[in-house]
Amino acid sequence: MSPSRHSIEQEAVSAYVKHFGASPQVVASAPGRVNLIGEHTDYNDGFVLPAAIDRATAVAVGARDDDRLVMNPGSAQDASFSLARLYPSEQRAWTDYLTGVASLLQGRGTPLCGANVYVYGNVPRGAGLSSSAALELATAFALIELNGLAIPPVETARLCQQAEHEFAGVKCGIMDQFISCLGRKNHAMLLDCRSLAYEHVPIPAGVELVVCDTGVKRALAGSEYNQRREECNTGVRILSSKLAGITALRDVSPAQLHDLQGLLDPVVRRRCMHVVTENDRVVRSARALREGNLSEFGKLMYDSHLSLRRDYEVSCPELDLIVDLCAESDGVYGARMTGAGFGGSAICLTKQGFAEGVIARLNAGYHGKNGEKASVYVCSIDDGATVKRVTPGA
Ligand code: GLA
Repeated sequence: MSPSRHSIEQEAVSAYVKHFGASPQVVASAPGRVNLIGEHTDYNDGFVLPAAIDRATAVAVGARDDDRLVMNPGSAQDASFSLARLYPSEQRAWTDYLTGVASLLQGRGTPLCGANVYVYGNVPRGAGLSSSAALELATAFALIELNGLAIPPVETARLCQQAEHEFAGVKCGIMDQFISCLGRKNHAMLLDCRSLAYEHVPIPAGVELVVCDTGVKRALAGSEYNQRREECNTGVRILSSKLAGITALRDVSPAQLHDLQGLLDPVVRRRCMHVVTENDRVVRSARALREGNLSEFGKLMYDSHLSLRRDYEVSCPELDLIVDLCAESDGVYGARMTGAGFGGSAICLTKQGFAEGVIARLNAGYHGKNGEKASVYVCSIDDGATVKRVTPGA
């Protein structure tokens, strides 16, 4: 069992007290996520179906009377910045997510007060479970409350996405920040990434969700992620010569793409094919989930994985091995990679009581190319970000 959200917040508060010698004023926490289906669709104005998980990052903060942000003293992450000079680090550091959020909050016009900050959490880094969004959201919620600002959640999610663009160099979509902000326990979220309209879809009883981390880590920044985004934009530019008024792949149907595919070079055509068919799968998956049709849902998960592997080319042998091992196991509805890919994690949806068998099979059958071991566990679906005032001694 993963420690509760409350105990993660308590750890951040205790570490804060230990290192700063006083109680923090505010503690916020925000979860990581899995994406059930809808990969690489968010930055194409499409649909996604993520869920917040029971792994979170907590940020405890208290005001200082100078203009410094002082973070995690006495740990390997020890860092300190002047709020008057916040820039992305040259080497890309975990602190970029915090300083990025602080900088963008200030960019709205109100200077922030200096703050002591202690971050504690259990979202594994580099596992494709959005540890960065969890850190951004927990930071934003904590600093907003500490400074008495009023910013609606959707705007907070957008601000955190912007921090990731500007301070971490990843031109990510809105999915991770949005679900970390607004997830709901035992529900997935169907999000329209164009209008940001969303709907919480209950996860039917009698299923278990297994997460399997390949242990293969690949930084997203400056790499293939941004390149995929470019390839999608190229597709839109070319297709718009025949489809007047389209602004994103969201506007293109599988049939239209089929008719016009001759206009595109093979790589761009495959990228577009994935996005256009994936959007369609998300809409059908959300319907299947609502109807409790889990075998249909599972089939769409496998289709999604295949499309990501063949057309979008963001899977890797380790993720494919996990999906194959899951498909051979009893009681499995479906499995697929989750998140950006290039390593990271896969998810598997099983009937109640079958997760243990899947975990045993993955532990026995998985081996990374470079000897990586899988980290496999059952995950539950949790709420989005929260913040509270801390009562000293409570
Ligand atoms: C990363 C990004 C998201 C999304 C996924 C792929 O997690 O942060 O915005 O694009 O990859 O679906």
